[in-house]
Amino acid sequence: AKVHHYDWDISYQHKSPDCFEKLAVTVNGEAPGPTIRATQGDTIVVTVNNKLETENTAIHWHGIRQIDTPWADGVAGVTQCPILPGETFTYKFVVDRAGTYLYHAHYGMQRVAGLNGMIVVTVPDGIREPFTYDEEHTVLLQDWWHKSVYDQATGLSAKPFVFVGEPQSLLINGRGMFNCSNLATPTGSCNNSRPDCTLPALFSIVPGKTYLLRLGSLTSLSSLSFEIEGHSMTVVEADGHYVRPFVVRSLFIYSGETYSVLFKADQDPRRNYWATSHIVGRNATMTPSGKAVVSYAGNDPRKTPPTVPTNGPAWDNTAIRVEQSKSILAHPGYVVPVPVRADRTLLLLNTQNNIDGHIKWTINGVSLHFPATPYLVSMKHGLTDAYDQRPPLDTYDHRGHDISAPAPTNGTIGSPVYRLAFDSVVDVVLQNSNMLNNQSETHPWHLHGHDFWVLGHGDGKFDPTADAWRLLNVKDPIMKNTVPLHPDGWTAIRFHANNPGVWLFHCHVEAHVFMGMGVVFEEGVESVGRLPSSIMGCGHSKGLH
Ligand code: C2O
Ligand code: CU
Repeated sequence: AKVHHYDWDISYQHKSPDCFEKLAVTVNGEAPGPTIRATQGDTIVVTVNNKLETENTAIHWHGIRQIDTPWADGVAGVTQCPILPGETFTYKFVVDRAGTYLYHAHYGMQRVAGLNGMIVVTVPDGIREPFTYDEEHTVLLQDWWHKSVYDQATGLSAKPFVFVGEPQSLLINGRGMFNCSNLATPTGSCNNSRPDCTLPALFSIVPGKTYLLRLGSLTSLSSLSFEIEGHSMTVVEADGHYVRPFVVRSLFIYSGETYSVLFKADQDPRRNYWATSHIVGRNATMTPSGKAVVSYAGNDPRKTPPTVPTNGPAWDNTAIRVEQSKSILAHPGYVVPVPVRADRTLLLLNTQNNIDGHIKWTINGVSLHFPATPYLVSMKHGLTDAYDQRPPLDTYDHRGHDISAPAPTNGTIGSPVYRLAFDSVVDVVLQNSNMLNNQSETHPWHLHGHDFWVLGHGDGKFDPTADAWRLLNVKDPIMKNTVPLHPDGWTAIRFHANNPGVWLFHCHVEAHVFMGMGVVFEEGVESVGRLPSSIMGCGHSKGLH
């Protein structure tokens, strides 16, 4: 196995990914950052130099389980102290499974400012995948605001609350095209005739060849559909696990998810085709679709396709999205056997609440506040003043709570933790419910440090006393690290709490986790090895080593 070294300067730079110039957080001057490529079993060493001048940072390696290295998970407040301006921090971890993964900032809402990228882990020599292809490409999907991350975070914490609103652009591999004439007040920052403001060329294909696309979404808010005009796609992998192949025209992809799809260059090669991303689940009429050009070899790669790009599937058709979620099953040759019974069940209800005039998300009544001392340090070192000792609730009032109405109660803000018995099997049923505006929306939930089995998705309220448990799929569920909770519905997952450490489980919508939509799990922290002193220094961890 190889060791790959990276030296990254994290800094703000003026960037105009969609023709509108603003500050973006970059990796060695680029946003999105470079794709990390490695082979299963390799070690990645990333030295991060925080050159943001006036802002902390931390980088999370999304989908990497960090087995034996829980301190390298990169979550400020959970697994480390933030990296201060001028400081250097080194992440070192093993990529233990082939697949497509992501990385991004995990400090406040910093991901919104552009610190995003992909990790591609290939199978070791001699291992065959359950499909073949000629070439591969990566496609990273993002949404993009012209408002700064500070503006966004300030509005979310303000009284009265100001939502971030819909994005101005959807980016495909870091590029979009905003029409500057749509600005209410023209500004020199927006210029459609700047030389880098061209129709994005995605990649070129050769007739008859088959391509593997590694797709990842690091949107801050938007759920997306992605399609390549005229070409159907066969989904073969999700979050690093092979799926029973299924064909789509349009792939729904939620923030934090990755998919590999195969497609064949089998259309008229004399013209080019649109690759598009569209917002679903929210009525974002002002946000134009993300557009890029897939060209056939020999054509001008920027030549505009002769067709009008589609608008994608109807934004409010929840049923077809639930349907696609349900069709993601383990590939028959790669089913990871599911433990038959769970030792503990958590029914987690999300509600939106007004806490002292602040709009927050709560899970079973608690809105997560990241403590000043990282949980990993405080739990390993017994610093009981550093987080809430009272455990959060395993369940909510599932009989009494009306999920189709705003929450009647207010909830609290806190920093509790679910302590899971080491090696136990845990079921979590995520239950959606209406927001204060009486609507229900999509929440992609991501679990750090583990993959989980996706046992089912359903409409309405999950009834834990009924036959619902028996209807869950324990035969061939896919394993994932991120799964959508659809509007007005529930999602059930199961995982094995066998990775010593402290792990965040949260909605991957950046505004939502900022508003408290997450929980923290601890398992086997006593068996975690000696913590590196580089993760300490803040809060109650001052002077520890
Ligand atoms: Cu990509 Cu905590 O998330
Ligand atoms: Cu959410």
